Amino acid sequence: MRPFFIDTDTASDDAVALVIALRHPEVEVVGIGVVAGNVPLEMGVQNALYTRELCGSAAPVYVGASGPLTRTLGTAQNVHGNDGMGDIGLPLSGRTPDPGSAVDALIDAAHCNSGLLELVTLGPLTNVALAVQKDPTIVGHIKRCVVMGAVSDHIGNVTPVAEFNMWVDPEAVDVVLRSGMKLEFVGWDISRFDACIIPSEAAQIRAIGTPLAEFSIDIQRAVAEFCATETKLAGFDLPDPIAMAYAIDSSIAITTREMYLEAVTGDGPARGMVVMDTLGVTHREPNALVVTKGDHGRFMAMLTDAVS
Ligand code: RIB
Ligand code: CA
Repeated sequence: MRPFFIDTDTASDDAVALVIALRHPEVEVVGIGVVAGNVPLEMGVQNALYTRELCGSAAPVYVGASGPLTRTLGTAQNVHGNDGMGDIGLPLSGRTPDPGSAVDALIDAAHCNSGLLELVTLGPLTNVALAVQKDPTIVGHIKRCVVMGAVSDHIGNVTPVAEFNMWVDPEAVDVVLRSGMKLEFVGWDISRFDACIIPSEAAQIRAIGTPLAEFSIDIQRAVAEFCATETKLAGFDLPDPIAMAYAIDSSIAITTREMYLEAVTGDGPARGMVVMDTLGVTHREPNALVVTKGDHGRFMAMLTDAVS
């Protein structure tokens, strides 16, 4: 079993990523840390607890940061719905998270699974930055950190150049990029090009007929509407699920590139942009592996297996 720690701002795509991990036979989810992002923290905690219950999992869910390191929180409820899960009336309240903070749980998990822990981040990097600041030695204990974030084509989804997770807390991204952790980025470009679920595919998955299959599709209601009207995709995209699929099976990546990445902090038009030195013009040592093309077919197969 491979120990995974998942940090999430639990909304409709995060939930499907959790399903993929919680249902995978090779993965032991040793902890789920929740961070404010798509929705306010408490909503994200309830969404994670609901998803865990639906998967029949006992993986601990820990409460993390209620906002970015220094900024006020900007959510994506305009994309995922007020409850983050498509506003379809799910009973998303009244569940109790596990004791202890997400930051301390991540630090403990790194030390208890030294050299083996695979960290997958699905939201802003606030919790991870706080953990690295509290105990910089975890960098040497974490095997790899797969980040759903940034865009290798620099075409953003929340501003012209920034992807949402990086935009929410760019100062946290800066801390993580400088930490020395083994970083692998799966950007929103991979989502919109290789994890866009068209209506016939959505119907095919839902027709599997299991509670998880129906849940995984039905909670995408709000994001499907947003994609149709705003991002003008041919369906809804699943950024966190394809990042999770890659974390579990790296052959999901058809092409990758080692690059030097730098986060734009501050409040200008490029806030949250993660500049990627594709041609090596800075002559700076690469600090991340970036997936530059994903395999839609393999992703669909993994998603289908997870909900069947
Ligand atoms: O930009 C996409 C990312 O922002 C995904 O993680 C989605 O869940 C939102 O957090
Ligand atoms: Ca997310």
